Amino acid sequence: MSRYFTTPIYYVNDRPHIGHLYTTLVTDTLTRFHRLQGEDVRFLTGTDEHGQKIEKVAKREGVAPIDVADRHAPTFRDLWKRFGVANDDFIRTTEPRHRIGVTELIRRLEAAGDLYVAGHEGWYCVGCEAFYPEKDLEGGKCPTHGTAAEWQKEENVFFRLSKYQDRLLELYEKGSVPGIPFVFPETRLNEVRSFVSAGLKDLSVSRTAIEWGIPFPGHPGHVVYVWLDALTNYLTALGFGSSDEELVARYWPEGDERRVTHLVGKDILRFHAVFWPAFLMSAGLPLPTQVVSHGFWLKDQRKMSKSVGNVVRPDALVDAFGVDALRWHLISEMSFGQDASFSDEAFLVRYNSDLANGLGNTLSRAVRMASDAFGAATPGERCDDNDVKRVAEEAVATWDAAFRGCRLHEAAEAIRTLLGAIDGYITAKEPWKRVKAEGVTPALHRIHFNALEGLRIAAVMLAPIAPGASAEVLRRLGTPKSAEELRPSDLAWGGLPLGAPLAPAAPLFPRADAKAYFAELAKESPVTEETKPVAAEVPAAAPAAPAVPVPAAAPAAEPARISIEEFFKADLRVAEIIAAEKVEKSKKLMKMRVRIGEEERTIVAGIATAYTGEQLVGRKVVVVANLLPAKLMGIESNGMVLAASLPGTGEPSLLAVDPSVPSGTKVK
Ligand code: MSP
Repeated sequence: MSRYFTTPIYYVNDRPHIGHLYTTLVTDTLTRFHRLQGEDVRFLTGTDEHGQKIEKVAKREGVAPIDVADRHAPTFRDLWKRFGVANDDFIRTTEPRHRIGVTELIRRLEAAGDLYVAGHEGWYCVGCEAFYPEKDLEGGKCPTHGTAAEWQKEENVFFRLSKYQDRLLELYEKGSVPGIPFVFPETRLNEVRSFVSAGLKDLSVSRTAIEWGIPFPGHPGHVVYVWLDALTNYLTALGFGSSDEELVARYWPEGDERRVTHLVGKDILRFHAVFWPAFLMSAGLPLPTQVVSHGFWLKDQRKMSKSVGNVVRPDALVDAFGVDALRWHLISEMSFGQDASFSDEAFLVRYNSDLANGLGNTLSRAVRMASDAFGAATPGERCDDNDVKRVAEEAVATWDAAFRGCRLHEAAEAIRTLLGAIDGYITAKEPWKRVKAEGVTPALHRIHFNALEGLRIAAVMLAPIAPGASAEVLRRLGTPKSAEELRPSDLAWGGLPLGAPLAPAAPLFPRADAKAYFAELAKESPVTEETKPVAAEVPAAAPAAPAVPVPAAAPAAEPARISIEEFFKADLRVAEIIAAEKVEKSKKLMKMRVRIGEEERTIVAGIATAYTGEQLVGRKVVVVANLLPAKLMGIESNGMVLAASLPGTGEPSLLAVDPSVPSGTKVK
């Protein structure tokens, strides 16, 4: 059985961000999981370089489109390298091998009688590179990008998509391989099914309004529609249409003895689950096994995207905490299939709790104690009947099923459970007391064996998600193996060598000081409304870098306790808003004039997404009156308005004050 995993090929109109990185890491993680099983796996990624989007950027910059592509394609390739992504191939749609394959696919569509020429006009979103029916636009704007759609009119080559409606519905019913739904998760399969059931229109597959694309065979002046061009990459990268189709025969043959899985964001599901199988049916080619779709990373409650301008790039976090920490965070933070908000704060909390504490600290503790007890060596006796073994076996089974079911966050959770159990086991068994009371007994050997062996298995389970950290833990446990060398037998209990050298080492993931991190970040690039790392979770008014609830000691997720004296240092007052206007060029900031007793002052707060100026004037709010002044978008803010940050969205909701309370009244 062979497996072929693909990511979408990314547009080269910009550098990669966390959203692109996520899809690639999910694919890499699944690829690594199946390689660990010893399977024959191929992994493809690449860049989508044609189309109006790229042509527009090139025109704006006054350069050739290929120059734009040449500039950005390596930024994707390099980022994947930096993150240890183990792709076998990287395809660029401007490569000759791709053009050959696309030309061959079109020849087949033509031979099937599925192409014809007709006039066409409609609303086009350049961000999506797709036409939209007017009813799907929101106030004339694309629902995904929020940018105005353009009316486009031209004569195009059409593909008879409507002809495939019934076969597509059958595909959604039965799957391309029996027992495997064609689209995962099921909610997305249902969406696709109802879209197709509502009736399919034929699809325009050539463009004359642009020049940047593959010339459409037999239609001078037309270029191939960028989605027909792009989707075909999955086959052209295997040599489809060339004189050497060995890889097609190995990874995309007819029959059930292979799995072809396309990983995509939900934004491009329709292209993969409707257009792509229809093209393949028309061309008489086998269908992929499954299209797996994940949700969006959001920022400011919107899909993170270049067109919206709200992207988070991974650079600063990776520089500070390393590749494996971000890999771990992205995979475990997002419930696969659903949307998630990205925030540096959440990253740091998870880093401290899962990596510094859960993995790093448990490892250091176990290694140091065993090393002290047995003279810098692993225990000399094994143990095959104990609680850690039972938890490890269950965790491995959960982890395995989670990966096979594409529930990557659950695979991460299984690792967390095992680490927690090991930590609890050490605490309960108190080996440090036993060694003092009884000396080095066989029971002590067994306790340490169980803790270290549990850690070894956790490290093997970690390999698909964080291969670097996995290899380092294995090295420290005296079982050096790279993630690529691991096999299922490494997951079985008992692999820890006895009496092998073992020495305490520096912390694997040093604890992060969140406050210091943000202060440093602010120094490097002064925090502004637009650059602040996590806008969704910024307090309503944010005069300084946001305080992060990461105490110096575990548990990391709980804010540190403070004394009543410390609380009273904050001078909380009732204030009346007497004027309010949105700060120009900012999505969130509201500039307000407030009265606190006799005094008037200006406060800038991140509440403009939830309140208009009109709704605010006359309202009484609670403010922190004794904050040091801070500049936000060049305006000096003197104080902070208190608001709840709503769960999930982070949207601010102002604390209500009875209107009869005079302004200036102290709140305590
Ligand atoms: N070029 C097309 C895909 C063609 S595939 C034959 C395209 N490219 S893209 O650069 O816009 O990237 C699309 C993919 O990047 C999404 O489908 C998704 O996998 C990933 N993401 C981009 N932004 C994302 C988020 N904000 N969140 C999660 N993933 C996102 O569409």
